[in-house]
Amino acid sequence: MKAWQIRGKHGIDALECVELPEPTAREGEVVVAMRAASLNYRDLVTVRGVPGGAAPSALVPCSDGAGVVHAVGPGVSSLAVGDRVVPTFFQSWHDGPVSAEARSLALGGTLDGVLRERAVFRADGVVKIPDAMSFEAAATLPCAGLTAWRALAIEAPVGPGQTVLVEGTGGVSIFALQFANALGARVIVTSSSNEKLEQARALGADFGINYVTTPNWSTEARAFTDGRGVDVIVEVGGEQTLTQAMTAARVGGRIVVIGVLSGFGSTISLPMLFSNNLQLIGISVGSRAHFIDMLAHIERWQLQPVIDRTFAFEAVPQALHTMASGAFFGKLCIRF
Ligand SMILES: NC(=O)c1ccc[n+]([C@@H]2O[C@H](COP(=O)([O-])OP(=O)(O)OC[C@H]3O[C@@H](n4cnc5c(N)ncnc54)[C@H](OP(=O)(O)O)[C@@H]3O)[C@@H](O)[C@H]2O)c1
Repeated sequence: MKAWQIRGKHGIDALECVELPEPTAREGEVVVAMRAASLNYRDLVTVRGVPGGAAPSALVPCSDGAGVVHAVGPGVSSLAVGDRVVPTFFQSWHDGPVSAEARSLALGGTLDGVLRERAVFRADGVVKIPDAMSFEAAATLPCAGLTAWRALAIEAPVGPGQTVLVEGTGGVSIFALQFANALGARVIVTSSSNEKLEQARALGADFGINYVTTPNWSTEARAFTDGRGVDVIVEVGGEQTLTQAMTAARVGGRIVVIGVLSGFGSTISLPMLFSNNLQLIGISVGSRAHFIDMLAHIERWQLQPVIDRTFAFEAVPQALHTMASGAFFGKLCIRF
């Protein structure tokens, strides 16, 4: 069977499409025939590498996919051949609070990911998906969807009368826009593109700010809230956005710290943090229980993940180049 692998060398064009042995399901495991995957910024970083980071000798990248149970191992009664499933991002975090152990087994990181035709998972490492949900839509959920869900439904729950700000129009942010809308909050979106701001408005955003032409976007965000400040900020920008996010937040506001799109470094104004009673809440994706809760809400709200484009399995490098260019809105998918 075919798989994409990082083999001792970083870089999109260094990815290799290789032939791997067919996996078999042992006690408690299932083999899933992957039908779709979606890309996250993390996958791009894994493939391109970070300065000084050694490339894995052989790793299948990409955390998010969906497929069909192809074989079940002994002792598996919860799943049957033909079930439509997604594997969870953390194979080791089922329920309860986060811990080092819970975060230890991550697809496309510490474990091989989903860019392979068939993959073996523990039976409790996959979740059944609704019949009506496409494989591509399901494949957008394990990382981007769940991170946005955990931010706005669990760690900094929002509701009517509140304002949420999401940065940029990538995977996590567009899910955050959709969830915030469904939860009844008003949404401010920032983007480098006026065209994407229009797309975000069409999707339900109440206000858009171009962060290139308005680098001090916190002023406009505060003005939109009549000077009070934003209740919850989905902070994915990192180095160039955290100070703006803290300035835009209301007294007692919550900033869910998720990403590093503009760089890993940051200087935090400690007086601003304590004087304004801000809460900076760092999160990494979520548990299987969070995922099941999110899936139930997506079904109830009939929410459709926003997929910009779907690429063929053979075109994974092209899809990663598209992600690197930033020329997309929402999610990029792969069809097997
Ligand atoms: N902690 C976690 O659990 C977790 C989970 C998922 C993702 N993440 C992190 O969250 C970040 C977003 O991930 P993703 O997969 O959603 O990314 P993505 O889909 O690749 O998002 C790309 C978009 O981000 C926007 N962007 C880039 N630089 C920006 C800046 N300086 N300010 C505001 N927006 C900017 C751009 O939007 P415009 O084109 O509209 O300008 C760009 O199109 C990444 O750093 C990722 O590693 C963390």
